[in-house]
Amino acid sequence: MKTIILPSKKKVAETVADLIQEKIKKKPNLVLGLATGGTMMPLYKELRKRKIDWSKVKTFNLDEYVGIKKKKDSYHYFMDKYLFSKINIKRKNTHFPKNKDYDSEIRKAGGIDLQILGIGVNDHIGFNEPRSSFTSKTRVVNLSDETRRSNSRFFQSLNSVPKKAITMGISTILKAKEIYLIATGRKKALAIQKAVECKPNEKIPATALKKHKRVSFFLDKKASGKLGD
Ligand code: GLP
Repeated sequence: MKTIILPSKKKVAETVADLIQEKIKKKPNLVLGLATGGTMMPLYKELRKRKIDWSKVKTFNLDEYVGIKKKKDSYHYFMDKYLFSKINIKRKNTHFPKNKDYDSEIRKAGGIDLQILGIGVNDHIGFNEPRSSFTSKTRVVNLSDETRRSNSRFFQSLNSVPKKAITMGISTILKAKEIYLIATGRKKALAIQKAVECKPNEKIPATALKKHKRVSFFLDKKASGKLGD
């Protein structure tokens, strides 16, 4: 696992955008796993500014809420708003998990070349909450109170945050050929410390990434603040 610490969240976004741009240049039909959440917004802003030909790129999003009341609260809407509507990607090449066939859809596309991940304050990846099996595949999960509280900032109220979501499983994520995890801000420092310093165990989902050969963590100074404490 590589840990890359950069001075600011802007620098993190620029660095990851450079690498994605480079990968698409080398392989125009790159299969990209995408994430949502506040951490991804600077990255998508950066990608929107670049001259990248997205016409052959395929994307697979990590997760989606189940039982959303307003369309604008969905991750599908988020991706359209912050990225897909601003680039020349073909909508038929963008995918969101709907059922357990997602893993085979990914396989048929040739597998994910690069998976982008954020991290939850409780160390979740995708919506794989603590105690998710490392062998889990795409499935519907219950969201923890902590995750619902933390994500309620994107909703009108805590009550409108769905209780369920569908997410790639941990084994789905680990099948990606390469993984970039991005974390910025002090709120993520403890989650990052655990992900980097604890042995793989199912109580801390992000520790599963230690089982993968090509994982890089891109952190700003604040998110890396507890490393080595
Ligand atoms: C959600 C998503 C995760 C994401 C996490 C962190 O729970 N399901 O994939 O990593 O939020 O989000 P944020 O970047 O807003 O802190």
